[in-house]
Amino acid sequence: MINIAILGFGVVGSGVADLLSKNKKQIADLVGEELNIKYILDLREFPDSPFGHLVIHDFDTIVNDESIDTVIEVMGGSHPAYEFTKSALSRGKNVVSSNKEVVANFGDEFLRLAKENSVSYRFEASVGGGIPIIDPLVSTLRHNDTQEVRGILNGTTNYILTKMFTLGESFENALKAAQERGYAERNPDADILGIDAARKIVILAAIVTGKLIPVDSIHTEGITGIRDSDIKLAESIGRKIKLVARCIVNDGAPTVMVAPFMLSEASPLMHADGVYNAVEYIGSPLGNIMMYGKGAGAGATASAVVSDVVSCCAKVGSLSLGFTKVKEGGNFLDFASQTYLAFAPEHADEVMLAFDDAVRVRAEECAVITSLMTEADIEKKLCALGEKGIVPLSRIRLL
Ligand code: HSE
Repeated sequence: MINIAILGFGVVGSGVADLLSKNKKQIADLVGEELNIKYILDLREFPDSPFGHLVIHDFDTIVNDESIDTVIEVMGGSHPAYEFTKSALSRGKNVVSSNKEVVANFGDEFLRLAKENSVSYRFEASVGGGIPIIDPLVSTLRHNDTQEVRGILNGTTNYILTKMFTLGESFENALKAAQERGYAERNPDADILGIDAARKIVILAAIVTGKLIPVDSIHTEGITGIRDSDIKLAESIGRKIKLVARCIVNDGAPTVMVAPFMLSEASPLMHADGVYNAVEYIGSPLGNIMMYGKGAGAGATASAVVSDVVSCCAKVGSLSLGFTKVKEGGNFLDFASQTYLAFAPEHADEVMLAFDDAVRVRAEECAVITSLMTEADIEKKLCALGEKGIVPLSRIRLL
């Protein structure tokens, strides 16, 4: 029998306990031994849960228990998850995490520590919910030359945008529904401001380039600036607005960003709706592939966590991976795209003069789509307009 401990008994922690218990026999067959949840660490008590009797409040009990083989960290947040992970790895325990914040901030240190202590640190559930994305990127795809990894990596914002698109729901109602379904972060600002997606693309960028970029150094926009009229405009030109996280790789150097993009039919990402996430990998000689599945919620995330637990307990070995911290995520100002810009109608003459090769796409307000331009060039023109008091109401790039 292999003993494990779960740190955190929230949406994901309880989903993991349910799955380990429901598919106990199947999992034992995979591992070669039965898995036993010995402890669940949480500040709260759960008298009504079938796992309530396993709940303890002191991490030292877990880390000092020699019989604990694998620790599942599904607490979220940087602290004390960082300290607990470090301590468990140093004491020779495997650690499995769904916590993108700690992986994005400290993944380099944890992978190093795992190697030094001959244990595994795995984090399949930290990106893309139930989609198996980390393992394929680490093993199956790594021999390709990566050109880009991009994806819809936040279930909450994709759910909100889909509800706004298809049902015309308000942002507030859609967010409330996402929270009720257990998709949103404890503080949903991390979802709607793009920070959660930024953490996830930083992890994917580290896997494909080895460079761990500070999350706060990358260009990050959320979905709060998207107006109803932008959604309608996108629809009228056969596009959908989605929050897309991108890591573009040039000669091994990543340029990483998170922003809403207007996706065309030609983009496979356009078809991922609701809580679904999708990750598109573009490499040579492979070309494009896309992986798709539920990006948040107890069941999907628990599936990814348990896949790592099985790998650890079956002694599949550590991820063959190391990250090196770097200072920043590329030069966003060199990034080029066509961009949709909307201005108040009275500024039409000035705007069309500044963006003389742009196409006007709406009459009621001055909405244009620019030619392919770098961020630096667009900024220059917007600054000049800004000096005349002309500021865009919306700015959304096309993909
Ligand atoms: N809040 C996250 C999301 C949870 O909505 O994608 C899964 O990481």
